[in-house]
Amino acid sequence: MTMKTDYIGKPTNRVDGRLKVTGQAKYAAEFDSPGLTYGFVVSSRIAKGKIKSIDTTEALQLDGVLQVFTHENRPQTAWFDKSYQDEDSPPGSPFRPLYSDEIQFSQQPIALVVADTFEAARYGATLVNVTYEDAPFSTDFEGNREKAYTPEKYKSQPPPDARGDMAAAFASAAMQISEEYTHTSEHHNPMEMHASTAIWEEDGTLTIYDKTQSVQNSQKYIDQIFGLKPKDARVRSPFVGGAFGSGLRPQYQLFLTVMAALELKRPVRVMLTRQQMFSFGHRPATIQKLQLGASKEGKLEAVRHEAFGETSRFEDYAENVVVWQNVLYQCDNVAFDYKLIGLDVYTPLDMRAPGGSTGQFALESAMDELAAASGINPVALRLKNYTEKDQNEDAPFTSKELRECYRQGAEKFGWEKRNPEPRSMKEGHQLIGWGMASGAWEASQQQASAKALLTVDGKLTVSSATADIGTGTYTVMTQLAAETLGLQLEDVSFKLGDSALPDAPLEGGSWTVSSVGSAVTLVCDAIGKRLLKLARKVKDTPFATAGYDEVIFSEGHMRLRSDPSKALAVTRIMRSAEINYLEEEVTSKPAEKQKKYAPYAHSAVFVEVRVDEDFGTIKVTRVVSAIAGGRIINTKTAESQILGGVVWGIGMALEEESLMDTTYGRFMNHNLAEYHVPVNADIHSIDVIFVEEHDEIVNPIGAKGLGEIGIAGVAGAIANAVYHATGKRVRNLPITLDKVM
Ligand code: MOS
Repeated sequence: MTMKTDYIGKPTNRVDGRLKVTGQAKYAAEFDSPGLTYGFVVSSRIAKGKIKSIDTTEALQLDGVLQVFTHENRPQTAWFDKSYQDEDSPPGSPFRPLYSDEIQFSQQPIALVVADTFEAARYGATLVNVTYEDAPFSTDFEGNREKAYTPEKYKSQPPPDARGDMAAAFASAAMQISEEYTHTSEHHNPMEMHASTAIWEEDGTLTIYDKTQSVQNSQKYIDQIFGLKPKDARVRSPFVGGAFGSGLRPQYQLFLTVMAALELKRPVRVMLTRQQMFSFGHRPATIQKLQLGASKEGKLEAVRHEAFGETSRFEDYAENVVVWQNVLYQCDNVAFDYKLIGLDVYTPLDMRAPGGSTGQFALESAMDELAAASGINPVALRLKNYTEKDQNEDAPFTSKELRECYRQGAEKFGWEKRNPEPRSMKEGHQLIGWGMASGAWEASQQQASAKALLTVDGKLTVSSATADIGTGTYTVMTQLAAETLGLQLEDVSFKLGDSALPDAPLEGGSWTVSSVGSAVTLVCDAIGKRLLKLARKVKDTPFATAGYDEVIFSEGHMRLRSDPSKALAVTRIMRSAEINYLEEEVTSKPAEKQKKYAPYAHSAVFVEVRVDEDFGTIKVTRVVSAIAGGRIINTKTAESQILGGVVWGIGMALEEESLMDTTYGRFMNHNLAEYHVPVNADIHSIDVIFVEEHDEIVNPIGAKGLGEIGIAGVAGAIANAVYHATGKRVRNLPITLDKVM
């Protein structure tokens, strides 16, 4: 029997696909338990002030209602004495639900009604009578620009240091671009609403099913707040219906669910409504100022990138908005600044390529303005300013095949046929525009652990407390493990989403494949080394003197690399040694040698738009996204990541907008009817190219994450295409028809 066991780089179907399409994959709000109770959250009507009174009498009289938790009767927990920061907390003081009578933002959770049925809880929530004492507030982002401040500490990196003399170089530059770019807040809107189900057991322990990008982040949070031990509360999250960053921090439904379960000694489930999905965390509204000074030939001589980002009053949320010139374009005279504008809103939250998708929208728009002003082809301008190192870190890249992205992307798109003149490419009533942009995103590796268990029947189970938020983690980890030990995919299972499993970082930052994938590969190698030791003792062994680098695993066998026909079945090795199983656990860390290098994934995005001359409607008819993402583990799920990123980029450029009503201090369009995202009719041809990129430094498996690079340059490329189509430069996202007309 021949069986192929090489999976890396192949278009492998999702190993969890069948469970998902048959409805067997269970999400946080689908776990059940005898005696399950249901919690419904009451949200604050006002944006700031105090709860004068909260009367729960009527709600408590309702049949089926068990309890109404408010700040007046909530249990005293460890949290209320000491503020706890989770792994993704920005500097500041995290919001604490039901802490006091104080209201800090609109839709703040102020009560939890728990009942025997969901319907009773929901109806009960309407019977909680609240009176408020309003206080003055402001949620007007642009209006508070004068009050922008520099935070004491930045959440990610502080803005890079200036180099050279930007002001002088800009003043004397032949070409000068100086513009402002803005976008509103946006919300993640995953399909699955945030939910937690806490199963309370008679012995007082809890199993909590949570919608999260890190079961261990949720678990540590619960432990700290409720003073529990890790063994008392296990957090599980086997499937996540999209998150995009919204699950990086434990959300308030987790706190409320666990509080209620511990108090009532009953299993409790809380799921937020779609409207309540707009009550925690969003991509912050941002204002960016870009100044580019260049020679007539388009060589950059001066760059200044400044940004103002939205944050709450209680935490300083910040992103890497102004750093991107350093990795994309060479320039010696540069200056950066990034200030925050505090508003009476909930703290913003990382959303797919936080800071990158926004910062690169502004930078790539400005580069296009420079190209147009100097009459240089936008691709040629980027090549002219190509940088071979991260100038802020003064470090070479682990690899950077961005030139190849430009070349292959342009060729596939047919870029050379572009007439540079705006409004020159017309078909009937349709103005055709071609635009492009570069993209970059970090390809970092975090510490991660994994465990592997190989049993004598040749079945392998590998596990790590990571998440699969729809990205394909189950599948790529299974591929890596199967190929490393030469087993069939069907004989390997990967477990994740359980806080009891070996430590893993947050499922975010596009680092899961590089971090957890490295740990999975290493732990399988550890098993392989144990097998080799055993194989040396097998009668007539071909491996008596072989070192680990002299053997390979394929088709269920250990083989000599120099002569693969010299082989022993893995199961036979274990049987000969009378061993029932082999178990290993490893922790992988970024290697020392990586520290001298800058790890980034890159992209070149080419876009065609068609703008109706009479109506101003914009269609993105073609996108070619050329990606340099290192070694691609699964070409199918990898392509899906980029497709998803491009679709979101289309949404960001043309549709997504959380509209703030500054009179009431709340998002007006907090539903999927009025918060627009692309639907099938908005999406046309999208081509994804993965350029060949060999990287031996970035991490042991040479793969860069792909979750975020797909969106990075898209909004800028679309804005540039709209300019090319219409001659009108829109510097304010989303580009809706009223702005184009
Ligand atoms: Mo991502 S915004 O780190 O989930």
